[in-house]
Amino acid sequence: MRSARKLEIKTPEQLLVMRRAGLVVADALAKMAAAVEPGITTAHLDEIAASVLRAHDAQPSFLGYHGYPAVVCVSVNDEVVHGIPGSRILQEGDIVSIDFGAIVTDSRGQGWHGDAALTAFAGDASAADAELSNVTRTALWAGLAAAQAGGHLGDIGAAVERVVRSAPHPYGILEDYTGHGIGTQMHLPPSVENFGPAGKGPRLQAGLALAIEPMVTMGSPDTEVLDDDWTVVTADGSRASHWEHTVAITDDGPWVLTAPDGGAAQFAAMGVASPAGQHR
Ligand code: MF3
Ligand code: CO
Repeated sequence: MRSARKLEIKTPEQLLVMRRAGLVVADALAKMAAAVEPGITTAHLDEIAASVLRAHDAQPSFLGYHGYPAVVCVSVNDEVVHGIPGSRILQEGDIVSIDFGAIVTDSRGQGWHGDAALTAFAGDASAADAELSNVTRTALWAGLAAAQAGGHLGDIGAAVERVVRSAPHPYGILEDYTGHGIGTQMHLPPSVENFGPAGKGPRLQAGLALAIEPMVTMGSPDTEVLDDDWTVVTADGSRASHWEHTVAITDDGPWVLTAPDGGAAQFAAMGVASPAGQHR
């Protein structure tokens, strides 16, 4: 069956502008991850991202999006996504997911988005939390590797799910939240589920850009939204991890726009062809 909604296909020149946005996101996430330690506030991470945006003359994707009040999302422990940074002080062993999006504007005044997330730890991670984050990150890279022209959208969710389900612990995969198309807006069709059968859904084609973002819990996949109307927490109080990258599908393979090296090292280790080396 053919997808009802038209997907936004980017030219190579437009992807180069998205790459600039992706590198701003990568820079900010690296600086925020390095700053995560017991005693800092989650608002401190927001200040770091804001200063990186100023340095690159880029704009925030999240601030003001449906009224969202901050530049980044910081989600701690049982918070999965969309945590609002503030006066909360990080404690030893906290598992901290940081999500950030940036907009770079081209010469015609059109803005292009990059969106990525990572999981970090304040101090030492428990073995169980470290494994949760590793599995979620590995699942993300399996999904990125499945972003192949000529494949199907469902190949991505199937690849993510396979990694999570093959771990010994019975993790939960969120079903209420998904990845998404991305480009002139942060959220474009299609939705990118983190589960489901391969070979289904729209065909993937060169010039399509996707934000792939597995959200994995230690327990139930069910969630609730706190009274701040944003923070998504696990219904059972279990801890969660979130990893995300923006990837462009090209005829030479996936190009991870929000990875500093475009995904070159990770894909080489996985034996996956990628144009990352030639773009850099
Ligand atoms: N990476 C998140 C997403 O793709 C960011 C959205 S946070 C919001 O949904 F505040 F902007 F909504
Ligand atoms: Co996203």
